[in-house]
Amino acid sequence: VIATLACMAGAFLICGIPSGLIIARHSSEHVDVRKVGSGNIGMTNVARSAGGGAAALTLLCDAGKGYLAIMLGRLVVSQVAFGGDFSQTAALGASGWSTTALYMACVLGHVYSPYLGFHGGKGISVGLGAGLGFCWPVTLMMLAVFLVLAVPTRYVSLGSVSAAISLPIISFAWGIRGAAIAPLLVVAAVVVFAHRGNIKKLAYGQERKFSVHKRGGE
Ligand code: G3P
Repeated sequence: VIATLACMAGAFLICGIPSGLIIARHSSEHVDVRKVGSGNIGMTNVARSAGGGAAALTLLCDAGKGYLAIMLGRLVVSQVAFGGDFSQTAALGASGWSTTALYMACVLGHVYSPYLGFHGGKGISVGLGAGLGFCWPVTLMMLAVFLVLAVPTRYVSLGSVSAAISLPIISFAWGIRGAAIAPLLVVAAVVVFAHRGNIKKLAYGQERKFSVHKRGGE
C-alpha cells in the first residue's frame, strides 16, 4: 500500500507536466494555449492554435508521460510487493486495484496539474497513454468509442466524454471487479467534469469542431 501511494504521488507529479502549454509556447506561433481557443492545454486546442505538428507532439508527450508513469509505478510496486512479478500488477491480477489507482493518479495529475495551481487539461491523451499501460484491450475499445463518435462529427469532446463514460463499463465487461473499479469511476467522473463546458456547448450546438491552425491564417 505504501509503495502504491508513493508511486501514485510520483505519477501525479510526472503527469502534471503541461506538455501542451510548453510545446505551444515554443512553437512557431508562440501562443499561451490557456488564452486562445477553448483555453485548454490539450492536443485539440494546441491543434487549433499552434498547428498540426505541435498537436502531434503534444499527443505524443501527454500519452508518453502517462505510459511512462504507470509502467514505472507498476515496476516499483511489483518489485516491492510482489517479488518482481510484474504480472501481479496487471489490471486483472489479484491486486489490480493498485494499477487502477496509478491510472487515476496519472489522469488527476494532468487535470489538476500541481505546476499550474492545480488547473490543467481534460485527461484524454494522458488517459490513452496510461490506459495502454493499465489494460490495453480496454483502452483500445475506448479508443474505438472515441473514434466512432469524434471522427464523423469532428467534435473531439463528444468522443472524449463518451470514451470516459465507457471506461468503467468496458472495464467491468472485461472482468475488472471490486476495489479496482473505484478509481476508474473517479477517472470517468473527473474527465466528464473537466468537459462540463464542452457538454454545455454541445447541448447548445456551439461546440468547436476539430480544426488545425494554418500558419499565417486567422
Ligand atoms: O480532450 C479535450 C477535448 O475533448 C476537447 O478539447 O480544446 O475542444 O476543449 P477542447
